[in-house]
Amino acid sequence: MRYVPKHADELRATAKAMVEPGKGVVALDESNATCTKRFEDVGAQSSEETRRQYRQLLITAPEAQKYISGAILFDETIRQATDDGTPFVKVLKDRGQIPGIKVDTGAKDLPGGRGEKMTEGLDGLRDRLAEYYDLGARFAKWRAVITIGDGMPTIGCYKANAHALARYAALCQEAGIVPMIEPEVLISGDHSIERCQEVTEQNLRIVFQELAEQEVMLEGTILKTSMVISGLKAPNRAGVTEVADRTVETLMRTVPPALGGVVFLSGGQGHVESSAHLSAMNQRWGDKTPWNMTFSYARALQQPALDIWGPDNSKVKEAQQAFLTRAKMNSLASTGDYTEASEKAA
Ligand code: G3H
Repeated sequence: MRYVPKHADELRATAKAMVEPGKGVVALDESNATCTKRFEDVGAQSSEETRRQYRQLLITAPEAQKYISGAILFDETIRQATDDGTPFVKVLKDRGQIPGIKVDTGAKDLPGGRGEKMTEGLDGLRDRLAEYYDLGARFAKWRAVITIGDGMPTIGCYKANAHALARYAALCQEAGIVPMIEPEVLISGDHSIERCQEVTEQNLRIVFQELAEQEVMLEGTILKTSMVISGLKAPNRAGVTEVADRTVETLMRTVPPALGGVVFLSGGQGHVESSAHLSAMNQRWGDKTPWNMTFSYARALQQPALDIWGPDNSKVKEAQQAFLTRAKMNSLASTGDYTEASEKAA
Protein backbone atom coordinates (compact mmCIF):
# COMPACT_ATOMS: atom_id res chain seq x y z
CA MET A 1 0.00 0.00 0.00
CA ARG A 2 1.19 3.50 -0.73
CA TYR A 3 2.73 5.26 2.29
CA VAL A 4 1.19 8.64 3.09
CA PRO A 5 2.95 10.73 5.75
CA LYS A 6 0.84 11.46 8.84
CA HIS A 7 1.11 15.22 8.23
CA ALA A 8 0.27 15.04 4.51
CA ASP A 9 -2.28 17.88 4.52
CA GLU A 10 -0.02 20.19 6.50
CA LEU A 11 2.90 19.40 4.18
CA ARG A 12 0.83 20.19 1.09
CA ALA A 13 -0.41 23.45 2.58
CA THR A 14 3.07 24.57 3.65
CA ALA A 15 4.58 23.82 0.24
CA LYS A 16 1.79 25.70 -1.51
CA ALA A 17 2.21 28.76 0.71
CA MET A 18 5.98 28.83 0.13
CA VAL A 19 5.54 29.35 -3.62
CA GLU A 20 2.41 31.48 -3.57
CA PRO A 21 2.35 33.71 -6.70
CA GLY A 22 4.34 36.91 -6.23
CA LYS A 23 6.34 35.54 -3.29
CA GLY A 24 9.55 33.63 -2.72
CA VAL A 25 11.84 32.50 0.06
CA VAL A 26 14.86 34.33 1.46
CA ALA A 27 17.85 32.18 2.43
CA LEU A 28 19.42 33.46 5.67
CA ASP A 29 20.99 30.14 6.51
CA GLU A 30 24.66 30.80 5.85
CA SER A 31 26.73 28.70 8.23
CA ASN A 32 28.85 30.75 10.65
CA ALA A 33 31.91 30.12 8.45
CA THR A 34 30.15 31.28 5.26
CA CYS A 35 28.57 34.25 7.03
CA THR A 36 31.99 35.27 8.38
CA LYS A 37 33.40 35.18 4.87
CA ARG A 38 30.53 37.29 3.50
CA PHE A 39 30.98 39.78 6.37
CA GLU A 40 34.75 39.99 5.90
CA ASP A 41 34.26 40.71 2.19
CA VAL A 42 32.40 43.92 3.13
CA GLY A 43 34.58 44.87 6.09
CA ALA A 44 32.24 43.65 8.87
CA GLN A 45 33.28 41.70 11.99
CA SER A 46 31.51 38.38 12.45
CA SER A 47 30.32 37.41 15.93
CA GLU A 48 27.15 35.87 17.29
CA GLU A 49 25.91 39.38 18.08
CA THR A 50 26.73 41.00 14.71
CA ARG A 51 25.16 38.05 12.88
CA ARG A 52 22.05 38.52 15.06
CA GLN A 53 21.91 42.25 14.30
CA TYR A 54 22.27 41.64 10.57
CA ARG A 55 19.61 38.91 10.44
CA GLN A 56 17.32 41.08 12.58
CA LEU A 57 17.62 43.85 10.00
CA LEU A 58 16.46 41.50 7.23
CA ILE A 59 13.75 39.69 9.21
CA THR A 60 12.17 42.95 10.43
CA ALA A 61 12.39 44.84 7.12
CA PRO A 62 9.04 46.67 6.86
CA GLU A 63 6.45 44.92 4.72
CA ALA A 64 8.85 42.25 3.46
CA GLN A 65 5.96 39.82 3.89
CA LYS A 66 4.41 41.27 0.71
CA TYR A 67 7.22 39.61 -1.27
CA ILE A 68 8.73 36.97 1.00
CA SER A 69 6.79 33.83 1.99
CA GLY A 70 9.40 32.36 4.31
CA ALA A 71 12.99 32.44 5.53
CA ILE A 72 15.59 29.69 5.83
CA LEU A 73 17.45 30.06 9.12
CA PHE A 74 20.67 28.56 10.47
CA ASP A 75 20.79 26.64 13.78
CA GLU A 76 22.21 29.71 15.56
CA THR A 77 19.62 32.04 14.00
CA ILE A 78 16.50 30.00 14.76
CA ARG A 79 17.35 30.41 18.47
CA GLN A 80 17.91 34.19 18.26
CA ALA A 81 15.59 37.12 19.00
CA THR A 82 15.22 40.82 18.20
CA ASP A 83 16.56 43.59 20.49
CA ASP A 84 13.28 43.54 22.45
CA GLY A 85 13.51 39.78 23.01
CA THR A 86 10.95 38.63 20.42
CA PRO A 87 12.16 35.35 18.92
CA PHE A 88 12.89 35.65 15.18
CA VAL A 89 10.54 32.71 14.59
CA LYS A 90 7.69 34.62 16.23
CA VAL A 91 8.39 37.75 14.16
CA LEU A 92 8.16 35.66 10.98
CA LYS A 93 5.01 33.83 12.05
CA ASP A 94 3.25 37.02 13.17
CA ARG A 95 3.85 38.37 9.68
CA GLY A 96 2.42 35.24 8.07
CA GLN A 97 5.85 34.02 6.95
CA ILE A 98 7.09 30.46 7.28
CA PRO A 99 10.24 29.73 9.27
CA GLY A 100 12.61 27.19 7.70
CA ILE A 101 15.90 25.66 8.80
CA LYS A 102 19.05 24.36 7.13
CA VAL A 103 19.59 20.82 8.38
CA ASP A 104 22.57 19.45 6.47
CA THR A 105 25.92 19.69 8.20
CA GLY A 106 27.89 20.63 5.12
CA ALA A 107 29.50 19.25 1.99
CA LYS A 108 32.60 17.12 2.66
CA ASP A 109 35.16 15.71 0.19
CA LEU A 110 34.18 12.48 -1.49
CA PRO A 111 36.94 9.89 -1.59
CA GLY A 112 38.59 9.87 -5.02
CA GLY A 113 40.60 13.08 -4.80
CA ARG A 114 38.76 14.80 -7.67
CA GLY A 115 37.32 17.51 -5.42
CA GLU A 116 33.75 16.26 -5.54
CA LYS A 117 31.55 16.72 -2.47
CA MET A 118 29.10 14.65 -0.51
CA THR A 119 26.70 16.35 1.89
CA GLU A 120 26.48 14.99 5.44
CA GLY A 121 23.95 15.36 8.25
CA LEU A 122 21.76 12.25 8.42
CA ASP A 123 23.06 11.06 11.80
CA GLY A 124 20.64 12.15 14.53
CA LEU A 125 18.49 13.99 12.00
CA ARG A 126 15.16 12.55 13.25
CA ASP A 127 15.79 14.07 16.71
CA ARG A 128 17.02 17.38 15.32
CA LEU A 129 13.91 17.66 13.12
CA ALA A 130 11.63 17.06 16.11
CA GLU A 131 13.39 19.88 17.96
CA TYR A 132 13.21 22.24 14.97
CA TYR A 133 9.48 21.50 14.57
CA ASP A 134 8.98 22.47 18.23
CA LEU A 135 10.97 25.65 17.63
CA GLY A 136 8.55 26.50 14.77
CA ALA A 137 10.31 25.36 11.58
CA ARG A 138 7.93 24.08 8.93
CA PHE A 139 10.38 23.46 6.10
CA ALA A 140 14.01 22.35 5.99
CA LYS A 141 16.75 22.74 3.42
CA TRP A 142 19.52 20.30 2.47
CA ARG A 143 22.09 21.37 -0.11
CA ALA A 144 24.06 18.92 -2.23
CA VAL A 145 26.72 20.18 -4.63
CA ILE A 146 27.58 18.72 -8.00
CA THR A 147 30.79 19.96 -9.62
CA ILE A 148 31.32 20.07 -13.38
CA GLY A 149 34.93 19.45 -14.44
CA ASP A 150 37.31 16.97 -16.02
CA GLY A 151 35.73 13.53 -15.49
CA MET A 152 33.11 15.08 -13.17
CA PRO A 153 30.44 14.60 -12.04
CA THR A 154 30.99 10.91 -11.44
CA ILE A 155 28.01 8.61 -11.16
CA GLY A 156 29.08 7.93 -7.57
CA CYS A 157 28.75 11.60 -6.68
CA TYR A 158 25.29 11.96 -8.24
CA LYS A 159 24.03 8.83 -6.52
CA ALA A 160 25.50 9.37 -3.05
CA ASN A 161 24.07 12.89 -2.89
CA ALA A 162 20.67 11.94 -4.30
CA HIS A 163 20.34 9.07 -1.83
CA ALA A 164 21.11 11.35 1.12
CA LEU A 165 18.64 13.96 -0.18
CA ALA A 166 15.89 11.35 -0.39
CA ARG A 167 16.58 9.99 3.09
CA TYR A 168 16.56 13.48 4.62
CA ALA A 169 13.36 14.34 2.70
CA ALA A 170 11.54 11.28 4.02
CA LEU A 171 12.61 12.08 7.59
CA CYS A 172 11.41 15.67 7.20
CA GLN A 173 7.96 14.58 6.05
CA GLU A 174 7.67 12.14 8.91
CA ALA A 175 8.26 15.15 11.22
CA GLY A 176 5.68 17.38 9.48
CA ILE A 177 8.39 19.48 7.81
CA VAL A 178 8.50 20.20 4.07
CA PRO A 179 11.85 19.20 2.55
CA MET A 180 13.41 21.84 0.31
CA ILE A 181 15.77 19.62 -1.64
CA GLU A 182 18.70 21.48 -3.19
CA PRO A 183 20.82 19.44 -5.60
CA GLU A 184 22.90 22.39 -6.84
CA VAL A 185 25.03 22.14 -9.98
CA LEU A 186 27.84 24.63 -9.35
CA ILE A 187 28.31 27.57 -11.72
CA SER A 188 32.11 27.66 -11.21
CA GLY A 189 34.19 26.64 -14.21
CA ASP A 190 34.31 27.32 -17.92
CA HIS A 191 31.73 24.75 -19.03
CA SER A 192 29.17 25.52 -21.72
CA ILE A 193 25.44 25.84 -21.09
CA GLU A 194 24.94 22.60 -23.06
CA ARG A 195 27.17 20.75 -20.57
CA CYS A 196 25.31 22.31 -17.63
CA GLN A 197 22.02 21.18 -19.16
CA GLU A 198 23.26 17.62 -19.62
CA VAL A 199 24.49 17.45 -16.00
CA THR A 200 21.38 19.10 -14.53
CA GLU A 201 19.12 16.70 -16.43
CA GLN A 202 21.04 13.63 -15.25
CA ASN A 203 21.18 14.97 -11.69
CA LEU A 204 17.44 15.63 -11.46
CA ARG A 205 16.56 12.25 -12.97
CA ILE A 206 18.61 10.48 -10.31
CA VAL A 207 17.25 12.68 -7.50
CA PHE A 208 13.59 12.03 -8.41
CA GLN A 209 14.25 8.30 -8.78
CA GLU A 210 15.70 8.23 -5.24
CA LEU A 211 12.78 10.29 -3.89
CA ALA A 212 10.39 7.73 -5.35
CA GLU A 213 12.34 4.86 -3.77
CA GLN A 214 12.18 6.52 -0.33
CA GLU A 215 8.42 7.18 -0.78
CA VAL A 216 8.74 10.93 -0.52
CA MET A 217 5.43 12.70 -1.10
CA LEU A 218 6.10 15.08 -3.98
CA GLU A 219 3.14 17.38 -3.25
CA GLY A 220 4.80 18.19 0.07
CA THR A 221 8.28 18.75 -1.37
CA ILE A 222 9.98 21.83 -2.85
CA LEU A 223 12.84 21.58 -5.34
CA LYS A 224 15.51 24.25 -4.94
CA THR A 225 17.55 24.09 -8.09
CA SER A 226 20.33 25.90 -9.89
CA MET A 227 19.49 27.32 -13.31
CA VAL A 228 20.87 25.83 -16.51
CA ILE A 229 23.55 28.42 -17.21
CA SER A 230 27.05 28.77 -18.69
CA GLY A 231 29.99 28.40 -16.30
CA LEU A 232 31.16 31.71 -14.82
CA LYS A 233 34.40 31.54 -16.83
CA ALA A 234 32.87 30.21 -20.05
CA PRO A 235 33.63 32.10 -23.23
CA ASN A 236 30.43 33.46 -24.87
CA ARG A 237 28.07 32.93 -21.95
CA ALA A 238 24.46 32.25 -22.95
CA GLY A 239 21.95 35.10 -22.76
CA VAL A 240 18.80 35.48 -20.67
CA THR A 241 16.35 33.81 -23.06
CA GLU A 242 18.57 30.78 -23.59
CA VAL A 243 19.06 30.33 -19.82
CA ALA A 244 15.29 30.58 -19.29
CA ASP A 245 14.38 28.16 -22.07
CA ARG A 246 17.01 25.53 -21.30
CA THR A 247 16.25 25.64 -17.58
CA VAL A 248 12.51 25.14 -18.00
CA GLU A 249 13.00 22.55 -20.76
CA THR A 250 15.23 20.55 -18.39
CA LEU A 251 12.74 20.81 -15.53
CA MET A 252 9.84 19.76 -17.80
CA ARG A 253 11.83 16.65 -18.79
CA THR A 254 12.68 15.57 -15.28
CA VAL A 255 10.42 17.06 -12.57
CA PRO A 256 7.07 15.34 -11.95
CA PRO A 257 3.98 17.58 -12.19
CA ALA A 258 2.88 16.60 -8.65
CA LEU A 259 5.82 18.46 -7.05
CA GLY A 260 4.82 21.22 -4.60
CA GLY A 261 6.92 23.90 -6.28
CA VAL A 262 10.25 24.95 -7.77
CA VAL A 263 12.51 27.64 -6.34
CA PHE A 264 15.89 28.76 -7.64
CA LEU A 265 19.14 29.58 -5.88
CA SER A 266 21.24 32.42 -7.26
CA GLY A 267 24.51 30.52 -6.97
CA GLY A 268 26.92 33.36 -7.76
CA GLN A 269 24.84 35.16 -10.40
CA GLY A 270 24.54 38.92 -9.97
CA HIS A 271 21.33 40.28 -8.48
CA VAL A 272 20.02 41.86 -11.68
CA GLU A 273 20.86 38.74 -13.72
CA SER A 274 19.02 36.50 -11.23
CA SER A 275 15.87 38.61 -11.47
CA ALA A 276 16.05 38.74 -15.27
CA HIS A 277 16.43 34.97 -15.58
CA LEU A 278 13.55 34.19 -13.23
CA SER A 279 11.29 36.68 -14.95
CA ALA A 280 12.07 35.32 -18.42
CA MET A 281 11.23 31.80 -17.24
CA ASN A 282 7.87 32.89 -15.88
CA GLN A 283 7.10 35.21 -18.73
CA ARG A 284 7.86 32.60 -21.43
CA TRP A 285 6.76 29.44 -19.62
CA GLY A 286 4.70 30.39 -16.58
CA ASP A 287 1.39 29.28 -18.06
CA LYS A 288 2.82 25.94 -19.26
CA THR A 289 4.60 24.54 -16.21
CA PRO A 290 2.64 22.48 -13.68
CA TRP A 291 4.46 24.05 -10.70
CA ASN A 292 5.07 27.66 -9.67
CA MET A 293 8.67 28.83 -10.16
CA THR A 294 10.04 31.43 -7.76
CA PHE A 295 13.18 32.51 -5.93
CA SER A 296 15.00 31.29 -2.86
CA TYR A 297 18.07 33.49 -3.09
CA ALA A 298 20.65 34.35 -0.49
CA ARG A 299 23.29 36.50 -2.18
CA ALA A 300 21.03 37.93 -4.91
CA LEU A 301 18.58 39.22 -2.28
CA GLN A 302 21.08 40.23 0.39
CA GLN A 303 24.22 41.57 -1.27
CA PRO A 304 23.16 45.20 -1.82
CA ALA A 305 21.93 45.37 1.81
CA LEU A 306 25.11 43.78 3.14
CA ASP A 307 27.26 46.23 1.14
CA ILE A 308 25.46 49.14 2.85
CA TRP A 309 25.35 47.72 6.39
CA GLY A 310 28.74 46.00 6.40
CA PRO A 311 31.38 48.74 6.72
CA ASP A 312 30.17 50.20 10.07
CA ASN A 313 27.10 48.11 10.96
CA SER A 314 24.89 51.18 10.77
CA LYS A 315 22.57 52.51 8.02
CA VAL A 316 19.97 49.92 9.00
CA LYS A 317 17.08 51.66 7.23
CA GLU A 318 19.04 52.09 4.01
CA ALA A 319 20.10 48.45 4.10
CA GLN A 320 16.50 47.36 4.68
CA GLN A 321 15.43 49.46 1.73
CA ALA A 322 18.04 47.79 -0.49
CA PHE A 323 16.83 44.36 0.63
CA LEU A 324 13.20 45.31 -0.02
CA THR A 325 14.08 46.51 -3.50
CA ARG A 326 15.56 43.10 -4.37
CA ALA A 327 12.60 41.36 -2.76
CA LYS A 328 10.20 43.44 -4.83
CA MET A 329 12.14 42.92 -8.08
CA ASN A 330 12.11 39.17 -7.54
CA SER A 331 8.44 39.20 -6.59
CA LEU A 332 7.79 40.78 -10.00
CA ALA A 333 10.08 38.19 -11.61
CA SER A 334 8.13 35.36 -10.02
CA THR A 335 5.11 36.36 -12.10
CA GLY A 336 7.13 37.29 -15.22
CA ASP A 337 6.56 41.01 -14.70
CA TYR A 338 10.10 42.21 -14.01
CA THR A 339 11.60 44.41 -16.73
CA GLU A 340 14.58 46.73 -17.17
CA ALA A 341 12.11 49.54 -16.54
CA SER A 342 11.18 48.08 -13.12
CA GLU A 343 14.87 47.98 -12.25
CA LYS A 344 15.39 51.59 -13.33
CA ALA A 345 12.32 52.76 -11.42
CA ALA A 346 13.61 51.00 -8.29
O1 G3H B 1 22.20 27.00 -0.39
C1 G3H B 1 22.27 28.08 -0.94
C2 G3H B 1 21.41 29.19 -0.56
O2 G3H B 1 20.25 28.74 0.08
C3 G3H B 1 21.13 30.03 -1.76
O3 G3H B 1 22.21 30.90 -1.86
O4 G3H B 1 21.31 32.30 -3.69
O5 G3H B 1 23.55 32.70 -2.69
O6 G3H B 1 23.14 30.67 -4.11
P1 G3H B 1 22.56 31.69 -3.17
